[in-house]
Amino acid sequence: MKLLKPVSVEHLPELLRRMPKAELHMHIEGSLEPELMFALAARNGLTVPYPDVESLRRAYVFNNLQEFLDIYHAGTLVLRVEQDFYDMAWAYLQRAAADNVLHTEIFFDTQTHTGHGVAADVVINGLHRACVDAQAKLGLSASLILCFLRHLSEAQAFEALEQALPLREKLVGIGLASSELGHPPEKFAKVFAKARALDFRLVAHAGEEGPPAYIWSALDVLRVERIDHGVQALRDPALIQRLVRDKVPLTVCPLSNLKLRVFPTLAQHNLGGMLDAGLVATVNSDDPAYFGGYINENFTQTFAALGLTAQHAWQLAHNSFEASFIDASAKRVLHDRLEAFYETFDPIFRS
Ligand code: HPA
Ligand code: ZN
Repeated sequence: MKLLKPVSVEHLPELLRRMPKAELHMHIEGSLEPELMFALAARNGLTVPYPDVESLRRAYVFNNLQEFLDIYHAGTLVLRVEQDFYDMAWAYLQRAAADNVLHTEIFFDTQTHTGHGVAADVVINGLHRACVDAQAKLGLSASLILCFLRHLSEAQAFEALEQALPLREKLVGIGLASSELGHPPEKFAKVFAKARALDFRLVAHAGEEGPPAYIWSALDVLRVERIDHGVQALRDPALIQRLVRDKVPLTVCPLSNLKLRVFPTLAQHNLGGMLDAGLVATVNSDDPAYFGGYINENFTQTFAALGLTAQHAWQLAHNSFEASFIDASAKRVLHDRLEAFYETFDPIFRS
């Protein structure tokens, strides 16, 4: 492991904010801030069932994943036309660039929107146009991962895949999101096999609220390359060994875990334990508009709560680039940016 000169606790938040990083687990619908939600509702002649932005934000208190998903789903009702999807993604991409995210892989789903009468191509084209602009105007590379909703049937996932295929070139991968408990990965074995045959990169949420068995079946049945969340893996020593041996990345979302009560406090989060075990963990924001912060907020709050160091920060940023679905030469460029940043980081003498 690369050894770094120590950075004082006082300067760590600045290092975390300025550090180049990739974000690999965020749902674009979960970046829809209340202000934009109200603006899109007005533009589309719709109403949000809350009197104002503050009262909506006050409703963002959740006891578990399902309570969040219900509110999150209601928020998506304001998204009607391609420009809405563009505006939502563009707002996130600007925010990510400000957090020194150099590359992001954005989750979205089409089933929520087709369920409201919005066609899949409207969703994909709006999001993709924002990704193209992010590269051109922000120097931020962004790609799209279509998530199936696991509370729906596998037949419905096949339908979503079919609808997306004319726009195959605008997508890098396929994922699995929504209510985890009672919907194990193997429910989607056939549709993931089809996606694999079509050369999609594969990921799945597993081990957020669900047991280690769901992580095993995401790996062995769905054959995913990354596990989203995966925090329950630490309950199973054989699984830890497997994840370490195969260097399977885990996209961890600490503020999400706090808000959805996967851990009672951030100080009890197991991110430090995951890194100590040699797991390829990364830090991500999941649904930043709902969980109290974008990626840098996840880094700074978690590092403060767990007493993590600049060494851990380097490892997490390095993991984020290594775990990304970009080609080897683009990966090299991002790794070099990280190394250059650590060579020159000096909070005292900066200009
Ligand atoms: N878990 C599962 N599904 C989701 C999440 C999550 O954290 N966020 C948005 N959809
Ligand atoms: Zn998620």
